[in-house]
Amino acid sequence: MNERVKIMDGAVSPAPANMRKVFVKTYGCQMNVYDSQRMADALGADGYVETASLDDADMVLLNTCHIREKAAEKVYSELGRLRKLRDERQASGSDMLIGVAGCVAQAEGEEIIRRAPVVDFVIGPQTYHRLPQVVSRARRGDKVVETDYAIEDKFDKLPERDVRQLRARGVTAFLTVQEGCDKFCTFCVVPYTRGAEVSRPVTQIVAEARKLAESGVREVTLLGQNVNAWHGESPDGSEWGLGRLLRELAEIDGLDRLRYTTSHPRDMDEDLIAAHRDLGALMPYLHLPVQAGSDRILKAMNRKHTGDEYRRLVDRIRAARPDIALSGDFIVGFPGETDVDFEDTMRLIADIGYAQAFSFKYSPRPGTPGADLKDQVPEQVKNERLYRLQSLLGKQQADFMNGLIGKTISVLLEKPGREPGQIVGRSPWLQPAVCDENVGKIGDIVSVRITRTSANSLIADNRKVDTEA
Ligand code: 5AD
Ligand code: SF4
Repeated sequence: MNERVKIMDGAVSPAPANMRKVFVKTYGCQMNVYDSQRMADALGADGYVETASLDDADMVLLNTCHIREKAAEKVYSELGRLRKLRDERQASGSDMLIGVAGCVAQAEGEEIIRRAPVVDFVIGPQTYHRLPQVVSRARRGDKVVETDYAIEDKFDKLPERDVRQLRARGVTAFLTVQEGCDKFCTFCVVPYTRGAEVSRPVTQIVAEARKLAESGVREVTLLGQNVNAWHGESPDGSEWGLGRLLRELAEIDGLDRLRYTTSHPRDMDEDLIAAHRDLGALMPYLHLPVQAGSDRILKAMNRKHTGDEYRRLVDRIRAARPDIALSGDFIVGFPGETDVDFEDTMRLIADIGYAQAFSFKYSPRPGTPGADLKDQVPEQVKNERLYRLQSLLGKQQADFMNGLIGKTISVLLEKPGREPGQIVGRSPWLQPAVCDENVGKIGDIVSVRITRTSANSLIADNRKVDTEA
């Protein structure tokens, strides 16, 4: 998954003065955003409320990401800052707890407490349901490291989602349906930090989706490191795939928009493609990472498909849903990548045409097979390739957005805009759409005509909702 979603701000209501307060800082992907909310809920059942301000926090929880280099270093420098803050606190007679969660916690374990003794507890992603016990041990002065892969189902043990908390979080929500990965791409740490692929059961997912809808959520994004590999036993005992699950969720009153991320090309089965054809609620946007366009590199990455197989898959998806926009992830400078290999990636991008994309320089991750490969690509070459790749992708993104000018599109209104008189919504293709506040209220899905674009947003200057479809 991507570092697409940074820290969720503005979603935290002010904390009552007499309660303990936790400040959660989230790094990395959407799954971490979801996990942070579930951890905050678990701590809520334990007497903590979330605060958006570090200054009045009794506990700081860093929910960390380990996907690329520097992620762990960022955490250590944040811990350095927190040590100073804690020293000041202690000097004035108060204190705070400091915890590290997420994928760095899983990967580094006790090493975190060795390097940063200011940390009171370390908790891996598979054990969040044990957070209240971990915190109470830490409060008694123990240093706690909880990074085992739990055998019990953490989602089953986490407290149910609280409708009031959910209301405060807005009209769009994430819902993790699958975790972990069995694909073992040779560049990726996920199979090691998040463990083997596990799917949540249908009944649990449907119950959580209903709760989200009851609390006013209108758009749900199903999350998983390999979300389209999700499979689960249905109430009648048969095995469902993601397409069937989406059909079920589309029936829930109030859930008007569905998305899922992030997918592996190998797991796009017929039924899922058909769901894109059949379900109006399934938004016409698909994040389908390919990583590279050269068959040689795809093989070295252990992606288990070729460039042409990916092209043919995209053709089938587009045949099912012609207005679908594609987004992807790309890595430049994987070990052994030659100029010719890189040109293959550029050609694939030109062939597909992406509405949005995320691209990275390869960064060797300790413990992954890629890190041991001999012919690592020089940094300078990676920089040049990344620059060219991002120029092409940036142009494709701008073309896609400019192509919407003059069109009437549906927008889910999400929050007040930065300027007075504005309200900001989300297009079917995930771009923010800045609208006149007269078009409707938060939670409405309205049709607006796009009049212009800015770097990353669509703009609809019209004062009235457009009625032409
Ligand atoms: N180096 C660079 N990019 C990586 N990604 C995952 N691991 C690495 C790595 N070692 C990228 C992939 C993935 C996205 C979430 O992060 O493109 O799809
Ligand atoms: Fe990592 Fe590959 Fe699994 Fe995605 S499919 S999480 S890139 S190993």
